[in-house]
Amino acid sequence: MNESLRAAEERSAAIEARIATHPEEFRMLTGDRPTGALHIGHYFGSIANRLRLQESGAETWVLVADYQVITDREIASDIRGSVRDLLLDYLAAGIDPERSTIFTHSAVPALNQLLLPFLSLVSVAELQRNPTVKDEAASAGISSINGLMLTYPVHQAADILFCKGNVVPVGKDQLPHIEQTRVVARRFNERYGQTFPEPGALLSEATNLLGTDCTKMSKSRGNSIELRMTADETAKKIKGAKTDSDRNISYDPATRPEVANLLTIASLCEGTPPEQIAAEIGDGGGGALKARVTEAVNTFFAPLRERRLELEPDQSYVDLVLRRGNERANEIAETTLDEVRDKMGMIYP
Ligand code: TRP
Repeated sequence: MNESLRAAEERSAAIEARIATHPEEFRMLTGDRPTGALHIGHYFGSIANRLRLQESGAETWVLVADYQVITDREIASDIRGSVRDLLLDYLAAGIDPERSTIFTHSAVPALNQLLLPFLSLVSVAELQRNPTVKDEAASAGISSINGLMLTYPVHQAADILFCKGNVVPVGKDQLPHIEQTRVVARRFNERYGQTFPEPGALLSEATNLLGTDCTKMSKSRGNSIELRMTADETAKKIKGAKTDSDRNISYDPATRPEVANLLTIASLCEGTPPEQIAAEIGDGGGGALKARVTEAVNTFFAPLRERRLELEPDQSYVDLVLRRGNERANEIAETTLDEVRDKMGMIYP
């Protein structure tokens, strides 16, 4: 394991321990790109942690990263529809707009303006080394990286630092961006005086949930179990999942990744260890395993799905949540930008 991963994991564990006793010291910021419905990988990888933080009493901010959509595609088709879907998923999952601020970064000009001083603190070579940017370009199938994509880790620093967020619940793939954010905060503080916290990632246990074909779960691969699917759609998706020919079900991630992934999904939904589920299925084979996973997913997500159906027709409520969130985000962003311009000597009569 490399040093920076180890350091990030230690920091995450320290944050976890501190939140339990001092939630008021934390301001959580995290977000998603509005590129389609959330799936169960998002839920267990990040949303569950956000809900836990929200319940703990830490201040929580949830960003709909709409500008990020145009980093790897030329047109953001139906961006409003995607934003709305994401909001419905958040609200259905239990993100509570009374306790969490949900906002879109395109609606917060002062947040985006932080990008200018932040970019001056980062070298082009540093940006070109970012492994997550390279991976994302590769998985989007683009050969030339545009300027927004190259600089978006710095944009992400602005996302986190505009509200002085100090804890960011994300999967391991996002660690290079959190590291970049820490570097930006440190350099800004060194150059202009103490202004920003150096945020830490809060890593979840379940970051590596795979899709039904055993590659990374992602909407574009058609291998994801979406939060909003019906029970029947879920059953169909799981029925098509890859397994292997050994009828005796065992939990062995190294040699039986497909079976282990299905067991992990059932385990997360049921709160039962995967080994125990495997033992209970015994030599029932892939069919019994899939039936168990389907039942687990459908039971666990039933209340969320029901809430989503209730919320869906209420467009004005969803609009109101976002309008209020954007107002709050603008207030904080303007305060931070004023402080930044003051530190840089750029306040004029
Ligand atoms: N880059 C994140 C992703 O691709 C989304 C994101 C944008 C984000 N800004 C953020 C996550 C700030 C955490 C904090 O999933």
